[in-house]
Amino acid sequence: MTPPMVPTAKPGILDISPYVGGRSSVAGVAKAIKLSSNESPLGPSPKALAALEEAKPSLSLYPEGSGRLLREAIAEVHGLDAARIVTSGDGSDALLTMLANAYLQPGDECIFSEHAFLVYKIATLANSAVPVIVPEKTTNSAIKVDVEAMLAAVTPKTRIVYIANPNNPTGSMLNREEMAQLHAGLPSNVLLVIDAAYAEYVTAKDYEAGIELVTRHDNVVMTRTFSKLYGLAGLRLGWVYAPAAVCDVLNRIRGPFNTSTLQQQVGAAAVRDRDHFWLAVKHNSQWLPWITAEIRKTGLRVDDSAANFVLIHFPPDGEKTAAKADAFLSQNGIILRGVASYGLPNCLRMTVGTEEQNKLAVSLIQQFMAA
Ligand SMILES: Cc1ncc(COP(=O)(O)O)c(C=O)c1O
Repeated sequence: MTPPMVPTAKPGILDISPYVGGRSSVAGVAKAIKLSSNESPLGPSPKALAALEEAKPSLSLYPEGSGRLLREAIAEVHGLDAARIVTSGDGSDALLTMLANAYLQPGDECIFSEHAFLVYKIATLANSAVPVIVPEKTTNSAIKVDVEAMLAAVTPKTRIVYIANPNNPTGSMLNREEMAQLHAGLPSNVLLVIDAAYAEYVTAKDYEAGIELVTRHDNVVMTRTFSKLYGLAGLRLGWVYAPAAVCDVLNRIRGPFNTSTLQQQVGAAAVRDRDHFWLAVKHNSQWLPWITAEIRKTGLRVDDSAANFVLIHFPPDGEKTAAKADAFLSQNGIILRGVASYGLPNCLRMTVGTEEQNKLAVSLIQQFMAA
């Protein structure tokens, strides 16, 4: 075979649809309200902001390379072993990708569900591996991962199973028992990646973010982020809690200084500020059910959510489609997230905002439906 005449990407890479984040502006609208990226309406802890000021002198020097300061703060708050944490200064996205880079070879299979977070597919294709996409179960008020169908998709080629718990954009979650069932059905050489980006918001008593499973097994990891409840999406901080052997692998392939001193100091202050944490949990627990109930009154289906957003279903055609709702809301300064790229073309996802933002968004949805 004659070699190509131009630099050529690995198989799979040109099959990737680049990730498109939630919109943040609307043409002609001076100050739109962004409820499209599941960011925290409360913003960061004041203690994190103070740490940001204090960290300024660190900018001219390389950081401590292992993220020790941040790992120790996370370990202290969550009761974990700091040696089994790896941090990322490019979000938990980067950790999800690094896991694929480390464990997927060309032709290997990677399992995730139909409406899973888009990064799993990108990371799989980027490694010339094969995405195995498993249908989810739909009930009256939820679209949920089907554990049995996920297990039925396992073959000798399976290397990774990714699962967001709770899932974005459906908001549904697996409880402790369901996740344990998924893990128990996997061969021991398959890595179960539990992406717990929204774990902090979950109030269900039967939820387990992944710490117990990671502590007890060699083939489970849990990723977490500072982008959601901690209000630090712009800081790009994530972490993974993993078996020692997986941490060893990640520490070999990650960037040598992948978490800056500034990120470590701000993250450490943020995770230690439990008052701000509980304020954000309380705010979400108050407004998530309110938004769900108020939008349901319009006749629209809104799925039960364990996270900080809701998935709203619109009729597939006629005057009340998701596209028309999106256009109406945008013109009135509210940006929700279209989720066609997640296989949900008739839905919009709305993040819980401030009281004022929630009331405005809900009243506009009511106006749209009443018109
Ligand atoms: C399920 C899920 N995982 C991971 C992420 C990425 O978070 P980070 O900002 O840490 O990269 C998101 C962000 O939208 C998410 O929804």
